[in-house]
Amino acid sequence: MVFREGFLEGRVAVVTGGGTGIGFVVSRELARHGADVVVASRNPEHHAQIVREVEALGRRALALQADVRDPEQTKRVAERALERFGRIDILVNNAAGNFLCPAEKLTPNGWRAVVEIVLNGTFFMSRAVLPAMRAQGGGSIVNIGANYAWLAAPHVAHSGAAKAGVLNLTRTLAVEWAPYNVRVNAVTPGPIDDTEGVRRLMGDPATKRAVLETIPLKRLGRREEVAWAVLFLVSPAAAYITGHNLVVDGGMWFNHRMFRPTATDGGLA
Ligand code: NAP
Ligand code: COA
Repeated sequence: MVFREGFLEGRVAVVTGGGTGIGFVVSRELARHGADVVVASRNPEHHAQIVREVEALGRRALALQADVRDPEQTKRVAERALERFGRIDILVNNAAGNFLCPAEKLTPNGWRAVVEIVLNGTFFMSRAVLPAMRAQGGGSIVNIGANYAWLAAPHVAHSGAAKAGVLNLTRTLAVEWAPYNVRVNAVTPGPIDDTEGVRRLMGDPATKRAVLETIPLKRLGRREEVAWAVLFLVSPAAAYITGHNLVVDGGMWFNHRMFRPTATDGGLA
């Protein structure tokens, strides 16, 4: 255990897309550290396992079927969480969609699907929990980004643009909601092992090898490593941190290959 056991006891967390991949481990780690957890996503088949894990850790779990693209459904998630647990302390906007497609082939619907899940979904869900957090005197929102959002995102233009929007939204909401003691931060992963994101974007071994070459720490991240960044940002240790983007990518975004000296002569690679 990296953090003090039970430091989130009495807290309630909502995690969108909390039944799979990174969201699954974020939900589990929040529960392991004391939080009751609400997971929300479209497919109920994704919920059974995380509910079992959260309950096995001695915490309460609630799984809700919801599409974050619909503001009414996000409102319902907040209402149901409040009915069941009486408060919402943490929101992790983790739900996303992504697929590889060159921009010139992307259909309007393909663009819309991803932008609506990632950007609209993050805004709608954040807006939905705000009244509860405000009434309680505070809360913590963590948006999951992607490290190509401020670089370029070839073949994932939809996701890159939407995640860039999420980063700007993170900073804007951090300022607007600071008077309510609602902190809004982002955690930005690089490629994380054992996830749908990596399966979809670098499924073939050659692409995976090429990507590994661009990561100074020379490995993919682990889902736990993203979860620990989330735990830090929702913890009292981060009480004075808002609008921050915590990058968890092994140094990938520095694109070090451009400047890497060779092992033998110190020249440029
Ligand atoms: P994942 O397992 O496919 O997670 C996406 C989740 O979003 C699923 O649980 C899905 O559940 C949910 N979801 C999708 N559309 C939704 C909608 N309209 N409404 C509600 N929920 C919806 O993928 P992942 O790789 O773990 O990605 C998790 C997060 O990390 C994403 O924000 C992704 O952009 C980010 N990220 C991942 C990586 C990586 O290497 N994996 C790298 C950078 C950033 P349902 O199908 O049940 O709706
Ligand atoms: N290449 C090109 N276009 C694609 C595509 C692909 N691999 N996958 C989907 N699309 C297009 C579809 O063709 C459709 O456009 P069209 O109506 O013009 O044909 C559009 O995207 C919407 O697809 P649909 O399947 O109806 O959307 P959905 O709302 O049911 O699902 C997605 C959303 C497309 C993002 C789906 O992949 C999904 O649910 N993803 C969640 C899991 C995920 O992406 N995980 C990784 C997170 S990093």
